[in-house]
Amino acid sequence: MPPLRRILSRYQVRRRVKELAAQLRVDYAGQRPVFVACLKGAFVFLADLVRQVGVPLQVDFIMVSSYGMGTTSKGQITVLLDVTADIAGRHVVLVDDIIDSGGTLQFLREHLLSRGPASLRVCALLARESALAEGTVIDYLGFPVPPGFVVGYGLDCAEEYRQLPDIYVLEGER
Ligand code: IMP
Ligand code: MG
Repeated sequence: MPPLRRILSRYQVRRRVKELAAQLRVDYAGQRPVFVACLKGAFVFLADLVRQVGVPLQVDFIMVSSYGMGTTSKGQITVLLDVTADIAGRHVVLVDDIIDSGGTLQFLREHLLSRGPASLRVCALLARESALAEGTVIDYLGFPVPPGFVVGYGLDCAEEYRQLPDIYVLEGER
């Protein structure tokens, strides 16, 4: 097992999730948005987020594959599990754990937009500073993160570490 270095505590995450939720509460008042979480990594973030938003909303899930079991991208993205809600005409908030290259986000955006939602915004817990510098737009962002493979709070490396309450970087990866 590679050593873990903690980069964000559960308390920092909790505080930031509360701030994001407050913003969402204002922006989606009276709109009954559909929060579509990208499995599996976003499940913890979604659970904390929706309990703080405080407006009526719907939850749905999508699962895509691109990373396999390793820590580097394989490029090919496929939908493993699609949303079950009819999102046509609905206000959709795509909830993801981490935006790395932005490739998955671009794919998901196109996939969801093809269903004709009234609006589509992105809420990501983490985003790579490099992706942000390259112009990837994230409407609601928890924290920018430097290079290094990140685990905990739902994020995994080969299905390990999702259950950790804090967020860590795997030392010696990438
Ligand atoms: P992208 O398509 O390169 O932006 O990769 C996005 C997806 O890859 C995320 O939703 C994660 O599932 C996974 N991923 C990318 N970087 C990390 C990481 O540092 N830790 C855990 N998962 C990651
Ligand atoms: Mg993911």
